[in-house]
Amino acid sequence: MNLSEKIVRRLEDFILAERNLKSVGNIPFEHDGNIELAYPYIRASNQSLIAALGELERILDKPICEIQFLEVGCGIGTKCELARLTGMKASGIDLLPEYVNLAKRVYPDCTFSHANAMDCDYTSFDAVYYHVPFFNDYLVQQLEERVLSQLRLGAVLIVTRISEAMSENLRGEARSRHGYSVQRAAVEKDIGRLIILQKLK
Ligand SMILES: C[S@@+](CC[C@H](N)C(=O)[O-])C[C@H]1O[C@@H](n2cnc3c(N)ncnc32)[C@H](O)[C@@H]1O
Repeated sequence: MNLSEKIVRRLEDFILAERNLKSVGNIPFEHDGNIELAYPYIRASNQSLIAALGELERILDKPICEIQFLEVGCGIGTKCELARLTGMKASGIDLLPEYVNLAKRVYPDCTFSHANAMDCDYTSFDAVYYHVPFFNDYLVQQLEERVLSQLRLGAVLIVTRISEAMSENLRGEARSRHGYSVQRAAVEKDIGRLIILQKLK
């Protein structure tokens, strides 16, 4: 972990601990009439996301200032702020209102709202990012399908983990039973374990 990442994490931990949010356990939420369990705020690498954000202007073929970025499961909101600092319009959603209220105070120039990712409307975004909101592969697949079926053609999903079904189908281009297809976007920089899926048709 590089030095700036370490410092950001220390500051975040301090803020979270002051508000008793550092050791939040699994968060229950409703999906399809069942109660499911979500991960609390466990962070992915900032550096990998910064590198991935640097690829988006080329992949999306859109000026950076017009890119609408959404972080699903934003917690304190640091990834949103990173996207905003690159020049994008950045929003975040989270299941836990305490995280959302905190994110609004820490990063007032981003837009944060309290929402369940499984009920959200993704149609207006160019880039949607998430890092394991939950463990269950079935839920990962459901979220993947919701986001990708709603995104416009050419838009991207940036994730640290894809479903088993997506990994099996992703040899070149993956076709979904919902009628859309995606491909893994080629990147020039090291984006760690992030995967960028671009919607093709
Ligand atoms: C693993 S953390 C993600 C951390 C951060 N996004 C990052 O990349 O470093 C998961 C976050 O997802 C949120 N979350 C889990 N299930 C969710 C859901 N169904 N809808 C919205 N947010 C959810 C949790 O509250 C938590 O903040």
